[in-house]
Amino acid sequence: MMDYGKANRLDGKAALVTGAARGIGAAIAEAYAQAGAAVLVTDVLEDAGRGTAETIRKGGGKAEFLKHDVTDERQWEGAVAEAVRKFGRLDAVVNNAGIEKMARITECSVEDFRRVQEVNVVGVFLGLKHGIRAMAPGGACGKGGSVVNLSSVAGLLGMAGLGAYCASKGAVRLLTKSAAVECAQMNLGVRVNSIHPGVIWTKMAEQFLDHVVAEKLVPDRATAEGAFKTMTPMGRFGEPSDIAAAALFLASDAAKYVTGAELVVDGGYSAI
Ligand SMILES: NC(=O)c1ccc[n+]([C@@H]2O[C@H](COP(=O)([O-])OP(=O)(O)OC[C@H]3O[C@@H](n4cnc5c(N)ncnc54)[C@H](O)[C@@H]3O)[C@@H](O)[C@H]2O)c1
Repeated sequence: MMDYGKANRLDGKAALVTGAARGIGAAIAEAYAQAGAAVLVTDVLEDAGRGTAETIRKGGGKAEFLKHDVTDERQWEGAVAEAVRKFGRLDAVVNNAGIEKMARITECSVEDFRRVQEVNVVGVFLGLKHGIRAMAPGGACGKGGSVVNLSSVAGLLGMAGLGAYCASKGAVRLLTKSAAVECAQMNLGVRVNSIHPGVIWTKMAEQFLDHVVAEKLVPDRATAEGAFKTMTPMGRFGEPSDIAAAALFLASDAAKYVTGAELVVDGGYSAI
């Protein structure tokens, strides 16, 4: 019988979380550490990334920071090797780093469109490639594991002004399912799932609401916030910890039969 208390923890495990300098990634790194995992916090933002690792250590957890651009394959090889070297193992990779670019399709430059795909899709692809290689039998760790990819409700629904972002998050959704099927059918012992947050109160969400105002879609920030809250059946925005709790479940043994799933955490935004 499953020991549910233990199954929900990550004691003795090691995880790599990208984009963990702030926002959702920082909350996931903190949640994993609180659940007993050693965490490699990675990001392009060095000071804030070191800050996340420091906060975890001050709270009694185990964490290190590594500067890591998810679009660079050599840096991915280095990051995975660093996690295994520092912690002796790797059990979970969270592909959280992402960017958003708001622009109407008719106004979006091809450079901006490509950049969003580069970070949000190529970054996740490289995380899958090198994470699975390390965790699958014969890899640097080889004990199996879990990959959690951050998609969005924008990977499920079309949204005006978010074409590049929606395209990238839709790609993450099906890349996740392809990887999940491949890993399961090849018996690699690696589960792969996606999380689809609604509006979660972070820097990215604030920038998004500012842009809605800048585009003159609404007169001011308060109206923008009110409009998105009204579109959310629960009537409020989510917190990074709401996503961290979902990511913790997916990395834990409590989710040992969950792969290829899309876990929506959006206060009901996409349910209507
Ligand atoms: N906040 C939301 O409402 C929301 C909703 C749905 C999905 N998401 C997704 O959740 C994830 C986290 O979003 P957030 O709200 O915490 O955003 P955020 O902007 O607060 O944090 C994103 C982090 O990713 C890092 N990053 C960006 N490009 C990178 C790169 N090339 N290499 C490494 N790190 C890089 C940034 O430095 C930053 O620390 C993203 O994938 C985002 O698309 C967020």
